[in-house]
Amino acid sequence: MGFAPPTPREILLIFLLLASLYVIFIWETHREKFLPVPFQSSSPKDSVQSPTSQQQEQELQVYQTRVSWEHPKAQVPQTRIIAHVPGWSIIDHLYIFKGVVYIVSDVPSSIPNVSAIYSKGIDIELGREAELARLPDDTDIRVISTREARRSFGKGVQFLDGVTILVNDPPQFVRHYYHWAAELFFGLWRTYSSLDPSIPASGRPTSLPPPRRMWFPRVDAFRWRDYSFMNQYILRASFPALTMEFIDDWDDRRTMGVPWVLERVVVADRSAAMGALNYQRYQRTAASAFGLGRGSASWWMVIRGNVVRFAGMEEEEEGSVAVDEFEDEEEGEAGAVAVAEAASKANAIVITYISRQEWGRRMLIQQDHDKLVRELRKLERVYGWEVNVVMAEKMTRLEQLRLAARTTIMMGVHGNGLTNLVWMKPNARSTVMEFFYPGGFAHDYEYTTRALGMTHYGFWNDVAFTSPDLPLPSYPEGFQGNSIPLDGEVVAALCIQRLTLEEEVDDG
Ligand SMILES: *[C@@H]1O[C@H](CO)[C@@H](O)[C@H](O)[C@H]1NC(C)=O
Repeated sequence: MGFAPPTPREILLIFLLLASLYVIFIWETHREKFLPVPFQSSSPKDSVQSPTSQQQEQELQVYQTRVSWEHPKAQVPQTRIIAHVPGWSIIDHLYIFKGVVYIVSDVPSSIPNVSAIYSKGIDIELGREAELARLPDDTDIRVISTREARRSFGKGVQFLDGVTILVNDPPQFVRHYYHWAAELFFGLWRTYSSLDPSIPASGRPTSLPPPRRMWFPRVDAFRWRDYSFMNQYILRASFPALTMEFIDDWDDRRTMGVPWVLERVVVADRSAAMGALNYQRYQRTAASAFGLGRGSASWWMVIRGNVVRFAGMEEEEEGSVAVDEFEDEEEGEAGAVAVAEAASKANAIVITYISRQEWGRRMLIQQDHDKLVRELRKLERVYGWEVNVVMAEKMTRLEQLRLAARTTIMMGVHGNGLTNLVWMKPNARSTVMEFFYPGGFAHDYEYTTRALGMTHYGFWNDVAFTSPDLPLPSYPEGFQGNSIPLDGEVVAALCIQRLTLEEEVDDG
């Protein structure tokens, strides 16, 4: 007796059973491919404060779009000045209504002179008359009481949460890489970071939430970029999620006739910063921000770290992280060698001369340039230091950022190419050498270098000078010319002094 052969119906049922088992098996083994997964932060440090995805799913949200004082007992939130020096302010609950900025306070004597916060935001021209023309009036900024706020704003205002950056400057200085990176960003971050005095040397972590948005009420959507297109690289590298609003967006908000309140805003105003003694001394608006107390010595490292990682140098310049990577990937002796190589690479000495010899303006005498290059090549042969002679305009933006981040000594004629010094890693040897036409001097790169804790030397041919023995700013005839003299031997000698006499290298 045999079994009856299976009917086609039974075969079909078995087939369906097997097929569904197969689908379940595939689903279980690859389910992470089919389900949306929450982003994992790459470093455990990042995840300390973020709620788990489950908590996020369970929390129902009511979007807070308004701050209302309809209830008779509700208060109008008053404006608070969190930090302030001329031109740089951190303000909580700053109101904006019909294009005018409002400070709401029942104690107006606690508010600094608004001329040191905000201006008319017009082009900077020389002279007393131009200075007075830039002072704000009540079509720009006003201080009002909570009672007046109720009367003007109605029952409430539209609410913008998080941190906003408000730059009240016209395009005049915004669209230049030096002014963007080494003045505007520098000053903004020096101001904002004064709220976290414990930023570590690695720049991470920080208690500062990233800014949400950046507003330029005086600039249109194209004219914030510079001719070398570096501005957008720096912005998107530092804050990839930050959104920007420009003159048209400001006009939208103005013409709606609706009041807005910013939860926290960092206000930059170039004209207002010019009133500060530090500005008058250094001709740099960011210098005014350094009047704020409390900043961490590593205040800039948050931005630098973001830009350097963006440029593709993940953690490689940070010895310890590189070591972790190698331990995962390699075993035994080969691993140890790789670790040592990574560490020595991280501490390698790199000299970078940014040449302007094809730029057409502010160039060295050609023989002096040639001699400098010969002297630097000698250092390469004798000491084994890496020497790069580069023209910034012939490199990609990412190459420029990566090279600057690895550079120990950066040198060049006074000019925009030196702006990249802000991406160098400050340690006891880090040095900037800037070549001027004899008698000429400007603080632009000198102040910036020192603000990062690095050393700056100016050169007048065969004479080197450094802080505090600095000349006063001066632009003699020849300053912009193409016959700037320089003794390359003196430059090379100073490189040796900077790189060998100091035994202790503090990477802290
Ligand atoms: C505020 O500063 C401006 C500009 O320096 C000055 O003209 C004005 O008198 C000051 N106002 C007060 C109330 O001190």
